[in-house]
Amino acid sequence: MIKISYLKPDIVMTGLVLIFVLGGIAAGQQNLMPHLQKQGDATQLVVDGKPFLMLAGELGNSAASSVENMKPIWPRLAECNLNTVLMPVYWDLIEPQEGKFDFALVDGLIRDARRNDLRLVLLWFASWKNSMACYAPYWVKTNYERFPRAQDAAGKGLEILSPFSESNCDADSRAFAALMRHIRKVDGDRRTVIMVQVENEVGMIPDARDHCSAANEQFDKPVPKELMDYLQEHKDALVPEFNDVWKAGGFKTSGTWEEIFGSGIGTEEIFMAWFYARYIDRVAAAGKAEYSLPMFVNAALIRQGFKPGQYPSAGPLPHLMDVWRAGAPQIDFLAPDIYFPNFVEWIDKFDRAGNPVFIPEVGRGAENPANAFYAIGRHNAMGFSPFAIEGFIKPDSELVRAYNVLSQLAPLILENQGKGAITGVLVDSNNPTQQIRLGDYKLNVKLDAGWGKPVTPGMLAGSIIISIGPDEYIIAGKSQVITFEPNTAGDPIVGIASIQRGHFVKGRWITDLYLNGDESHQGRHLRLSPDWYDIQRIKLYRYR
Ligand code: DGJ
Repeated sequence: MIKISYLKPDIVMTGLVLIFVLGGIAAGQQNLMPHLQKQGDATQLVVDGKPFLMLAGELGNSAASSVENMKPIWPRLAECNLNTVLMPVYWDLIEPQEGKFDFALVDGLIRDARRNDLRLVLLWFASWKNSMACYAPYWVKTNYERFPRAQDAAGKGLEILSPFSESNCDADSRAFAALMRHIRKVDGDRRTVIMVQVENEVGMIPDARDHCSAANEQFDKPVPKELMDYLQEHKDALVPEFNDVWKAGGFKTSGTWEEIFGSGIGTEEIFMAWFYARYIDRVAAAGKAEYSLPMFVNAALIRQGFKPGQYPSAGPLPHLMDVWRAGAPQIDFLAPDIYFPNFVEWIDKFDRAGNPVFIPEVGRGAENPANAFYAIGRHNAMGFSPFAIEGFIKPDSELVRAYNVLSQLAPLILENQGKGAITGVLVDSNNPTQQIRLGDYKLNVKLDAGWGKPVTPGMLAGSIIISIGPDEYIIAGKSQVITFEPNTAGDPIVGIASIQRGHFVKGRWITDLYLNGDESHQGRHLRLSPDWYDIQRIKLYRYR
């Protein structure tokens, strides 16, 4: 071994400089890797070293099975102001024969997304896609002895791989590891791929639990110590629905599933959630060991009144959040696919216990722009992504205009998320008014259909409000009228000093118009147009 003291000082210096530079490059590359980062109470996705807001859409399930099919779609999505596309990668197509991988499809898709300046969130369609194993390769599907199926209560095999099988988990993990190794190789320096969803909407159906022999054996065993330890350590921070279930059995700390949580389908669901989570955690760990991108799981939500077994049970649902977090620490967050109209309720349930917010799927409804504003402003969402985007988005869609405004605002949004200086407002014909406290003012927001026009049933509108200084706000959105009151001691009346309509270029504000007179109701309010997505900057003052 060479001792430093034998070397000449200038060689030592050169060596030290080299170590410093190489270390710096390595650290720099590390920071350039997409990763999640806390900012106050928000969690942001960092891409190329900077926070990134995903103005996204998810492809329909089969669109990405052909490079040719996607060729005309990529530029159309980019023209429609998307910066990110959620795209499936299909296990059966990348591993048609066991251990023989074919990444030509994935490579072609990444190349074309990159050419169109789009980022990708990959969706790993493998053991489970909407509960089912339809994307498992033929060699898995047909070898049901080696790759066992879940069974219903009557012992009939289901088209669902059993999460109780080591060989199922190993095969999936090996394929996912190969995929992530490949992504690192072809994309590690360009970072077109920024995040990965592991599996898709897992959950048991039509029974609340798997009844194969391995599952039955586990069901009669004690609840694993890892889960019990987690519950005890996090006892004060469990989601209330789960806490109530544990409390009903007297907060027992050991025993079988039924001894601790009671007997019934609710307990069967908790049991399955643990084993799904453990399986997916192993798959995610195998992938992260190759290329450590942020990873998440998505949930099919529960239709009103449905019981475990009637919906994809045991998925990463809000009432099972603690079980998933305990069982799948490699998964960075749980995300909701919100196809139901009560968007506000569902997003609230996922924005708990520090779970970062991202909306990977919503339907194609007219409510999307308003919900996107609300999710990003109120819940610090990392992004928003309607499903089967290629099938409905057009350059004149409302969503395209909303994404245009959100992309202008993105630097300001990202600078303010998590710091108490930004919020989102959603008002609709059932709840047309809302009072917001932000900074030194209370903002009274009212749904507005336009001068002299009545609000019609079903109408809704969203906005983002950012406090940019003591008396100043940027307010963006549509169809709202806002008046102001003080939120702090001092002079009791609020006046409007000025309102500007404008736009942002690379984060810099440009004024297009000074709004006064009729446009501010002679200084009484700010009105966001019902006809387009507005960005306005308002300055207030106080008097008595
Ligand atoms: C939710 C799933 O996650 C998607 O892949 C797709 O099947 C949609 N449902 C269809 O509505």
